Amino acid sequence: MKLVIHDLSNSEWDKISDKYRDYEIISDNGRIKSCVGCFGCWTKTPGECVIKDGYEHMGMLIHKADEVIVMSRYTYGGFSSFIKNVFDRSIGYVLPFFEIFDGEMHHKRRYPETKPMTFIFRGRNISEEDKEKARKYVKAVCTNLHGEIKSVQFEDDSSCKAGSPDRSSDEAALLPKTYLINCSYRGEKSNTMRFLSKLAPALEGEIKMLSLVSYSEQIDELVKELLPAKKIVLGMPLYVDGVPSAVLRLMQKLESSDNAGAKKIYVIANMGFYESSQLTNLMSMVKSWCDESGFTYCGGLAIGAGEMMGMMTASPNMDKGPARNIAVGLCDLANAINEAKPMEDFYADAFKFPRFLYILAANSGWPKSGKLNGLKKKDLYKQPELSNV
Ligand SMILES: Cc1cc2nc3c(=O)[nH]c(=O)nc-3n(C[C@H](O)[C@H](O)[C@H](O)COP(=O)(O)O)c2cc1C
Repeated sequence: MKLVIHDLSNSEWDKISDKYRDYEIISDNGRIKSCVGCFGCWTKTPGECVIKDGYEHMGMLIHKADEVIVMSRYTYGGFSSFIKNVFDRSIGYVLPFFEIFDGEMHHKRRYPETKPMTFIFRGRNISEEDKEKARKYVKAVCTNLHGEIKSVQFEDDSSCKAGSPDRSSDEAALLPKTYLINCSYRGEKSNTMRFLSKLAPALEGEIKMLSLVSYSEQIDELVKELLPAKKIVLGMPLYVDGVPSAVLRLMQKLESSDNAGAKKIYVIANMGFYESSQLTNLMSMVKSWCDESGFTYCGGLAIGAGEMMGMMTASPNMDKGPARNIAVGLCDLANAINEAKPMEDFYADAFKFPRFLYILAANSGWPKSGKLNGLKKKDLYKQPELSNV
């Protein structure tokens, strides 16, 4: 069985579907839910997502497929929000446990195979630079999911939007408020929230804290809310080497709305692996979005070992321990926001906290989480199969 994951409209798909008659097809039925970051696919129902909306078997489907073909609209250097959503919901394909691969921290395989993957991006006049971003992105995805790139193709599609819409530059009409958006679907309990809460007191002027998850069913309301925003801080986790699908959806809505003008965009991103350098694709995607939307990318803070660093924000001496680099980065970010200036992206790793200890601690944490759900350590290694695809 070969698997196609695509984001084409019905009419677009009808034109090529004959070629894929015997393939298993995953497409957008309009009912896919965003990953909520619960890790249930690792510690509750290993290999299977806990959200039952028809997309819960993605890990098993990928396993069953001899080959995976991904067709996506080129979006800020990566996948469209639907394709990203499917990948965010597929992480059960790998194990929660970490290992070092190619000098970086990654997940161990759940299944023995290395999956061949073909990526076909559509867009209008995708530049060489953009193609390079997409190649770099899918390489990271394949490294993470133990896939092997068969080919990366680009198709010119004149129906895809290109270029930046005209934007008003009437800055005076905008209020000098800073909008902090917690884009983690873990909401109040997220590491993102912890970092934003640490940043907020260092900011001058009025602040408005918003949570993406509380707008999940009314994203247009959030877009409206952001109409007067002059400075926006997007806080988010790294999902499958990129922007989480729910955040991509917000970004695309903002881009296509009349949410015009001189918005300055800052980022606080955090991730599970140790090396903050693995956040380069995410930062680049936000920058590409700004370039395409007429917003100004002002840089931000990229935090490695986020699960540990998030907890350390509770310490009054955060600037003295392993989270020292994050404290420095938050300070730089606050200064940049207060002065409404751009900053270089700041990549913050754990300070004097060895990677092997982080991996040891993280790997011993997964069986404990599983135990809370009545699972033994060996259960986390389960290799579920789809019998009747
Ligand atoms: C669907 C999903 C995909 C993830 N992908 C990555 C990844 O590619 N690299 C990484 O370092 N961490 C990854 N993580 C881990 C999160 O980035 C990490 O747990 C982060 O601290 C969560 O932040 P939050 O609490 O603000 O949501 C992933 C988590 C989920 C739920």
